[in-house]
Amino acid sequence: MSDISQMAYLNGQYLPLSEARISPMDRGFLFGDGIYEVIPSYGGRLVGMRAHMQRMRNGLDAIGIRVTIEDQEMQEIATRLLQASGNGNLGVYFHISRGADLTRMHGFPEQITPTIFAFAFAIPEAGTGHPDSAKCVNVVTCEDMRWRRCHIKSTSLLGNVLHFQHGREQGQDETILYNQHGHITEASACNVFAVLDNRIVTPALDNQLLPGITRQLVISILRDFDVPVVEDTVTRQQLREADEVWLTSSSKEIRPVVSIDGQPIGSGKPGRYWHKAMTLYAQHKFDY
Ligand code: PDD
Repeated sequence: MSDISQMAYLNGQYLPLSEARISPMDRGFLFGDGIYEVIPSYGGRLVGMRAHMQRMRNGLDAIGIRVTIEDQEMQEIATRLLQASGNGNLGVYFHISRGADLTRMHGFPEQITPTIFAFAFAIPEAGTGHPDSAKCVNVVTCEDMRWRRCHIKSTSLLGNVLHFQHGREQGQDETILYNQHGHITEASACNVFAVLDNRIVTPALDNQLLPGITRQLVISILRDFDVPVVEDTVTRQQLREADEVWLTSSSKEIRPVVSIDGQPIGSGKPGRYWHKAMTLYAQHKFDY
């Protein structure tokens, strides 16, 4: 997938990814001043496209970037990039920065044209819910040291990158974060669910976590099939003692966590609620 013929979209043009160039004065490069999205697709079918586009608009509004591009055009860009990559298991990455300006100043320049960039990249194949196909993860926990606008899907990801790397340096797959009160927020690049006494719980949305589209799909699908999900506080202690813990994201779907800080979760294997959630997600993710 990283062959040099891979196609990108940049400011109205399609070109090989290896030839795409932006100015070093782009505020996305200088300040991380932008918004991004990752939309999963399988066989050319996008998952949750409308919700992803809405979250991108919300993020652009929140940081005052105005764009004229319509959702329809973004859909066409996604479709074309997917086709160019062979419509396999692909994520579409969209990135809109405030644009390039020849002076480096913190305040927003008056006249500036946003930079719009997109490309498609390989993601793991879709899960089925079968326990043998589960991609189990081992994680560590760490105090959330990011900023207080984590609900905005900003390209300023250094806080997330450092948290992810913290886990990786301990040989772990992800880092689950908790705030100063010991409440779970999310993971460095995923949302978190826990099964506590037969209740599926996920932290309620606020400025401390991203409103994940996979999280939203999982909640909606489970509720529509009469499996209750509660949005509530989960403490670090509750998480460590949970029967099951899952991570959700667009590229990873629903992954069972089998150990936290070196201690097994539940039986140390994917649990029955994960099986139910992943099976329903596999069957219904395109319906929403
Ligand atoms: N990450 N929380 C954070 C901090 C994330 O970066 C992500 C996604 C999620 C899950 O959101 P969604 O279900 O909408 O993908 C939660 C993406 C995939 C990334 O940065 O590559």
